[in-house]
Amino acid sequence: MFLLYASIALIAPYSIGCKPSKSGVFDNVTVLIKGLDKTTTEDSILIEFDDSLSKYLNNKPSEIVIIRNQFIPKLETNSVADLTKVQNLTLAGNGIREIQQGTFQNLPNLKVLNLSRNSIEEVRIGIFTDLRMHDLYLDHNKISRIGYKAFSKLHLKNLFLRNNRISRWSKDWFADSSVLVLDMGYNLIEELPPNAFHLMSKPANNSMSIIFTGNQVKKLNSHVFSGVSTYDRIVLDGNSMDRLAPGVFDGVRRVNVLNLNNNSLSEVNADVLGTVQIDVLMLEDNKLRCLSTDIFRMEELDIDGNPISCFCVKTWLDWRDRHSNPSIYHITNLEEECI
Ligand SMILES: *[C@@H]1O[C@H](CO)[C@@H](O)[C@H](O)[C@H]1NC(C)=O
Ligand SMILES: *[C@@H]1O[C@H](CO)[C@@H](O)[C@H](O)[C@H]1NC(C)=O
Ligand SMILES: *[C@@H]1O[C@H](CO)[C@@H](O)[C@H](O)[C@H]1NC(C)=O
Ligand SMILES: *[C@@H]1O[C@H](CO)[C@@H](O)[C@H](O)[C@H]1NC(C)=O
Ligand SMILES: *[C@@H]1O[C@H](CO)[C@@H](O)[C@H](O)[C@H]1NC(C)=O
Repeated sequence: MFLLYASIALIAPYSIGCKPSKSGVFDNVTVLIKGLDKTTTEDSILIEFDDSLSKYLNNKPSEIVIIRNQFIPKLETNSVADLTKVQNLTLAGNGIREIQQGTFQNLPNLKVLNLSRNSIEEVRIGIFTDLRMHDLYLDHNKISRIGYKAFSKLHLKNLFLRNNRISRWSKDWFADSSVLVLDMGYNLIEELPPNAFHLMSKPANNSMSIIFTGNQVKKLNSHVFSGVSTYDRIVLDGNSMDRLAPGVFDGVRRVNVLNLNNNSLSEVNADVLGTVQIDVLMLEDNKLRCLSTDIFRMEELDIDGNPISCFCVKTWLDWRDRHSNPSIYHITNLEEECI
């Protein structure tokens, strides 16, 4: 045993001595670069150690830059700066824990930034300011803290924050941003305040989608969605909601798809829906025993997986006999499965 330890002790300092002792932000990191022209082949560059990328890329076709599954614990000021060609930049799966102020600068053509599958804990204010990308992927990190107005004034269209540790929603994060699709799935959010989305863009003729799949939302308060008149999708499946407060949809004119699957709702009544026009209402896998025909205005209603009572189904059949277009409600199946 003694001999074995002794030989390790002798070899180790020697092998470390071979390697330069200096280390940079990018320490033994492989960068893949590609041009947009489909005929150009991917180029692979090894950075032994350096604090910034620009000098390795700028005289090469580098519209697409991929650094994946390397080890880069920290990005520092100017480390990802002055890449004038890059459009799609992937920095995914690199164990990034910290992104300092000023890391990203002068990336005039950036469209997509992929920071998925790192270990980022905090999104500080100003990190992404001045970037003009459309898509930002921050999914599968460890984000629990987001600075005041951290995503405000960005030109983002799609923001992916799925699979993080965000427990509190703050409407200030998105002040004056132009996000159209916000994916907050699989976080730890329990509550959404009134007017939760009203500071987000009100894109002239586009409607917004907000996705909160797999959070811990317990109930929806009144006026949560106020301030935005049309939503493309509101997705709240896989939460813990047992009721919706009256007036939840006050101020909302239309929702194309409202997905409330996989909650614990035992009642959804006309007070709750108010005057909002919902095209597709998804209520599968809840605890509904009935739904009043007063709300039967949508094009599609999904209610499989609820303990619907046979008495209720009978009221629906009576309603169907008086209306012309109710085939959408799959009543036949329910007639056999009601309890
Ligand atoms: C550099 O990284 C590669 C794998 O990415 C690894 O095989 C190699 O040992 C590393 N070299 C040094 C000097 O750390
Ligand atoms: C850039 O990323 C976007 C979004 O992931 C993708 O749709 C597009 O095809 C990518 N462009 C190239 C040239 O790879
Ligand atoms: C971002 O990177 C992750 C990890 O490499 C990958 O799985 C994902 O497809 C990428 N997303 C896009 C839009 O390219
Ligand atoms: C939005 O649509 C309205 C009519 O529905 C039109 O008058 C207006 O110019 C459109 N705005 C934009 C920015 O496209
Ligand atoms: C509800 O959740 C379960 C478990 O995650 C899943 O298997 C099922 O497909 C979900 N139902 C719907 C309608 O999404």
